[in-house]
Amino acid sequence: MSEAPLRPRLVIVAAVARNGAIGARNGLPWRLRTDLQRYKAITMGKPMVMGRKTYESIGKALPGRRTIVVTRDPGFAPADATTAPDLPAALLAAEGAAAEMGATEIIIAGGADIYAQMIGMVDALSITEVDLAPEGDAFFPPIDPTLWRETARAPHPAGPNDDVAFAFVDYVRRDRDAPLVEKRAFRA
Ligand SMILES: NC(=O)c1ccc[n+]([C@@H]2O[C@H](COP(=O)([O-])OP(=O)(O)OC[C@H]3O[C@@H](n4cnc5c(N)ncnc54)[C@H](OP(=O)(O)O)[C@@H]3O)[C@@H](O)[C@H]2O)c1
Repeated sequence: MSEAPLRPRLVIVAAVARNGAIGARNGLPWRLRTDLQRYKAITMGKPMVMGRKTYESIGKALPGRRTIVVTRDPGFAPADATTAPDLPAALLAAEGAAAEMGATEIIIAGGADIYAQMIGMVDALSITEVDLAPEGDAFFPPIDPTLWRETARAPHPAGPNDDVAFAFVDYVRRDRDAPLVEKRAFRA
């Protein structure tokens, strides 16, 4: 009997304020050093798929990770990242990178545009709930509790270099909680 092909788990990683804001003027509307440390730990050694605006807001590919930037602009060609003209192409490139890196997860790194298009197909969400309601111009899509099961919640008071308190919250899609699942076609 042949085994079903396995693919890396798709994981959205995002920091989200109480009002759903994730960004303002192409930047983060808070300073949370503890979250940046966790972000590094979660993403290290894995491919990351991100929108062109998020790539530009970070300003470079993060070391130790493989960055795949989605853009419709064929002239956008950063030296330190791969580009893809659409999400299926980005996911294919990320799967190839994951195989090369020995990674079992692909990180979907935002921003709002990418989260909205991907939340319907990812396996898990790794959310930092930020205890703020700032003005923003980029928002996370609603997390529907009938579709998502919360599996872990770790509240943290603000550390010395954190603006506010926050909580690390993990979710798995209710219909898909195995660590590796059968390969499926991308449905836009
Ligand atoms: N709090 C967090 O965890 C977090 C994480 C990431 C980002 N952010 C914030 O989110 C904001 C940016 O989000 P955003 O929604 O404005 O932009 P974004 O999602 O980062 O990038 C949008 C761009 O990605 C490309 N794109 C999107 N969908 C595509 C598709 N299907 N095919 C091809 N290209 C596609 C387009 O690039 P082109 O215009 O080049 O074609 C589009 O303009 C910033 O404020 C950032 O700081 C926050």
